[in-house]
Amino acid sequence: MKVFVTGGAGYIGSICVEELLNAGHQVTVFDNLSEGHRVAVDERAQFIEGCLSDRETIINAVAADQSEAVMHFAAFAQVGESMTDPSKYFRNNVANAINLLDAAVEAIQKAAHTGRIGDGKIFISTIDDAIRIRTGERGGEAI
Ligand SMILES: NC(=O)c1ccc[n+]([C@@H]2O[C@H](COP(=O)([O-])OP(=O)(O)OC[C@H]3O[C@@H](n4cnc5c(N)ncnc54)[C@H](O)[C@@H]3O)[C@@H](O)[C@H]2O)c1
Repeated sequence: MKVFVTGGAGYIGSICVEELLNAGHQVTVFDNLSEGHRVAVDERAQFIEGCLSDRETIINAVAADQSEAVMHFAAFAQVGESMTDPSKYFRNNVANAINLLDAAVEAIQKAAHTGRIGDGKIFISTIDDAIRIRTGERGGEAI
């Protein structure tokens, strides 16, 4: 499977990337290196330096990568700081995460409309709901 991992240069993400690669998956890491380290990214992974706050960059990166799954670890993770500076955490961990969700939705739509997945019929309700793709063979599978 091809997996797009945000925050793959960080503590949790980099370990996850290594485990995915060891299990035979292909991995693309997306990280702005604000907290993570380039050397922490396994050499077998493709690396994209970018920030989730940049909507155009993340939308293009997810669409171009054509991954089958996204794993999201790009966030600020200091509990104490999240109490003293909550807006910093809401911006990065909530607002920027919505950019990633939008990017995934756009990539699915693009893939469905170009016939790469499904039969071109795609149903998206709200961002909180599951996205369902109706396919001939994989009828009603939730992703
Ligand atoms: N460390 C833990 O013990 C632990 C436990 C449970 C859950 N988590 C959660 O896992 C996630 C990752 O935690 P971590 O400890 O690996 O943190 P980390 O700081 O080591 O890694 C986060 C990575 O995300 C990147 N990043 C941050 N904002 C970004 C953005 N806007 N665009 C692109 N990249 C961005 C950073 O550069 C960094 O490489 C967090 O959501 C955290 O709450 C961590």
